[in-house]
Amino acid sequence: MQALHTSNINTWKPNIDGASSQALVLALEQGQVLFLPKLGFVLDESEKQFLSPAWLDGSRKNISLEGEKVGGAQGAEQELARLAGMVARFSQEATALIHTLFPHYAAHLHQARTSYRPSPVGASQAISWKKDDSRLHVDAFPSRPNHGERILRVFANVNPHQEARVWRVGEPFEAVAIKFLPTINKPIVGSAALLKLLKITKKKRSEYDHIMLHLHDGMKADMDFQQNVPQQTVHFPPGSVWICFSDQVLHAAMCGQFMFEQTFHLPISALQHPELSPLKVLER
Ligand code: SIN
Ligand code: FE
Repeated sequence: MQALHTSNINTWKPNIDGASSQALVLALEQGQVLFLPKLGFVLDESEKQFLSPAWLDGSRKNISLEGEKVGGAQGAEQELARLAGMVARFSQEATALIHTLFPHYAAHLHQARTSYRPSPVGASQAISWKKDDSRLHVDAFPSRPNHGERILRVFANVNPHQEARVWRVGEPFEAVAIKFLPTINKPIVGSAALLKLLKITKKKRSEYDHIMLHLHDGMKADMDFQQNVPQQTVHFPPGSVWICFSDQVLHAAMCGQFMFEQTFHLPISALQHPELSPLKVLER
């Protein structure tokens, strides 16, 4: 399978017919990355001042939108308001894009985090290999069980120096599941309730969440897998946008700086091809 499915869409509210939308949905749901090289998130002159990691306050890796404000950023109140405005503008554009491209998703999408990532990839020395996103992984978060809900993400590279964001994209999810499932034990009885009680997780971890976390960790820990699994290196140049289900696509961020990201959650019932989702693949 080709890692990328390229489309020449060049606006955030494209005119798209039903057949083209269906083709994009199939590509996305079968685990390709939709690559839109002609669609950029363009910063206006006053926003270009935010192209610096100095806006990070050091408490975390990224700046994120929290209501009408930004978290993880430092600066004067007025500047932070403008920074929040920029991140909110990206969020609105990304939402319009997904609603227009995938009208069947629209009513079921939950908008989640919006982030601006001004640091170079790998700059904040990963605290542990589990947090090292330059190792191939599917997204699964220890504190955020999702019971099979999909993680849909829109990315935009806004690098001002012609630097691409470079990813490795690995083999299809099903092949990975076949390799790793036999190595994953059942959760310890009562552990999900305990994690919830201790507020380590926001809701109860399902068996799906347990398996996805073990897949995430198992593949990051396996250096032989990292090197030898079939994979493609892809370049997302400045002025491009890409979209994927990051709970399904094996991805690793190798280099790049200055990116926006919008996350959505989508219930499996809203998919056009639910049988391709990680939950259904694992159940099979
Ligand atoms: C990730 O989601 O693993 C990181 C993506 C990126 O920083 O490009
Ligand atoms: Fe990731």
